[in-house]
Amino acid sequence: MTTRVAVIGAGPSGLAQLRAFQSAASKGAEIPEVVCFEKQSDWGGLWNYTWRTGLDEHGEPVHCSMYRYLWSNGPKECLEFADYSFEEHFGRPIASYPPRAVLWDYIKGRVEKAGVRDWIRFSTPVRHVEYDETSGKFTVTAHDLPNSHIYDEVFDYVIVASGHFSTPNVPQFEGFRDFNGRILHAHDFRDALEFKDKDLLLIGTSYSAEDIGSQCYKYGAKSITVSHRTGPMGFHWPDNWQEVPLLTKVENKTATFKDGTTKEVDAIILCTGYLHHFPFLPDGLRLETANRMWTRNLYKGICWEDNPKLMYLGMQDQFYTFNMFDAQAWYARDIILGRITLPASKAEMQQENQPWCEREDALGGPEDQIYFQGDYVQDLIDATDYPSFDVDGVNKTFMEWEHHKEENIMGFRNQAYRSLMTGTMSPTHHTPWLEALDDSLESYLYAPNDKKEAQA
Ligand SMILES: Cc1cc2nc3c(=O)[nH]c(=O)nc-3n(C[C@H](O)[C@H](O)[C@H](O)COP(=O)(O)OP(=O)(O)OC[C@H]3O[C@@H](n4cnc5c(N)ncnc54)[C@H](O)[C@@H]3O)c2cc1C
Ligand SMILES: NC(=O)c1ccc[n+]([C@@H]2O[C@H](COP(=O)([O-])OP(=O)(O)OC[C@H]3O[C@@H](n4cnc5c(N)ncnc54)[C@H](OP(=O)(O)O)[C@@H]3O)[C@@H](O)[C@H]2O)c1
Repeated sequence: MTTRVAVIGAGPSGLAQLRAFQSAASKGAEIPEVVCFEKQSDWGGLWNYTWRTGLDEHGEPVHCSMYRYLWSNGPKECLEFADYSFEEHFGRPIASYPPRAVLWDYIKGRVEKAGVRDWIRFSTPVRHVEYDETSGKFTVTAHDLPNSHIYDEVFDYVIVASGHFSTPNVPQFEGFRDFNGRILHAHDFRDALEFKDKDLLLIGTSYSAEDIGSQCYKYGAKSITVSHRTGPMGFHWPDNWQEVPLLTKVENKTATFKDGTTKEVDAIILCTGYLHHFPFLPDGLRLETANRMWTRNLYKGICWEDNPKLMYLGMQDQFYTFNMFDAQAWYARDIILGRITLPASKAEMQQENQPWCEREDALGGPEDQIYFQGDYVQDLIDATDYPSFDVDGVNKTFMEWEHHKEENIMGFRNQAYRSLMTGTMSPTHHTPWLEALDDSLESYLYAPNDKKEAQA
């Protein structure tokens, strides 16, 4: 009987898994039957933008947490696929911080080339997964939404690639119920223009707060106040931007903070992160974790220790993204193909995991975390035929990125970096980020020389 593999989700992680199997097949390997279930009607995961918030046309929770005018928050050189460069996709070098539409195009390009679209069942959320100890197989219950049909299928392996930046973590603060303005979570933020000329309060100090605040500044918010639980972000912010201690209450439109100071605000955006949420997994198979660099209970950050035929991709907090998902997907594939042998027992897996856990516990700030994740990626790619790449070079590019943010938080996206895959230096973008209000693919890829060439 053919081995069957279920992949849940066709975002960057799930697509990495499809590409990993297709790559092995293209080199002559016999591969299992792979079925990918995707809740949305198209691929790309979070990068597949929708204007919708709340529930979608089928009554399913909207997956997308991205918004208009979102540009990559790290250099594209750090996420580049080792087997499919930006230069190959776009036919020429492009600038280093592409907007969402450009990255979505790039993600799609590799899997279109691989020809794996028909492995995916779109508009089909997985509702439940059950493991049968006797048969050693999983039953996956899926919902074909367009045909309103719920069915079961049996698989040997299940790979969970459903992402973890979609179900919002929504704390409540005193006075929210009676606040006379808009309150939303970053997950439902779609367009900074909604907050033009408004006094805005953001809660949280991580990437969502930094970027949504920057978007709103760019598109004309009157003032931005960022409230922190642990500590301020501490960048050199513009004059109408302040960092304050944690919100204690709101009354009418007055926000009061822990130090007793107050601020009149029109809207509050909770940039308070996301929950790992797997409503389709029963007790005993369900990963429960905070957003952290080393997820406990996953051998190599991938295999569910209690049952390694269940694997998870992309569940870590992320500096490395697309090429880390690839490294994981190639590793998961090689376990399934029998090219990698797992430790014989859970105890041995835990023993191997222990140094990573201890190192994670001792990590300092972002720089430490980047080197840690780089070592993890290196460890995985050393074990498979995923094209080796200069992980140390990627780490260094991340360090430059950090430095550029410290220098100029509203200007770091104007910088350019060298590809670690092709060695080509990226061009500087034609327009500084603060002035580039159109985030379309056409606008980003427009090269001033194109006009001259067309005229010649
Ligand atoms: C606002 C925001 C901005 C970001 N910006 C960047 C950036 O600039 N650069 C970067 O590298 N990373 C960025 N990220 C990180 C992002 O997590 C990764 O880039 C990437 O999208 C993760 O891929 P994934 O496949 O693991 O998850 P996702 O992209 O979340 O994809 C998961 C897929 O699983 C599907 N799914 C979920 N549940 C089910 C189910 N029950 N059944 C079937 N399908 C299901 C979803 O519909 C989705 O298509 C950003 C994240 C957020 C939230
Ligand atoms: N392309 C882009 O520009 C872009 C934009 C947005 C997001 N992203 C990505 O999206 C992912 C998620 O980032 P994120 O910022 O949403 O989540 P996150 O990194 O998990 O950060 C969550 C933040 O919420 C705060 N928080 C949580 N609960 C709180 C509470 N009860 N009260 C006050 N503060 C609370 C945390 O504060 P503590 O520090 O005190 O715990 C932390 O600052 C990241 O991978 C990021 O790269 C990218």
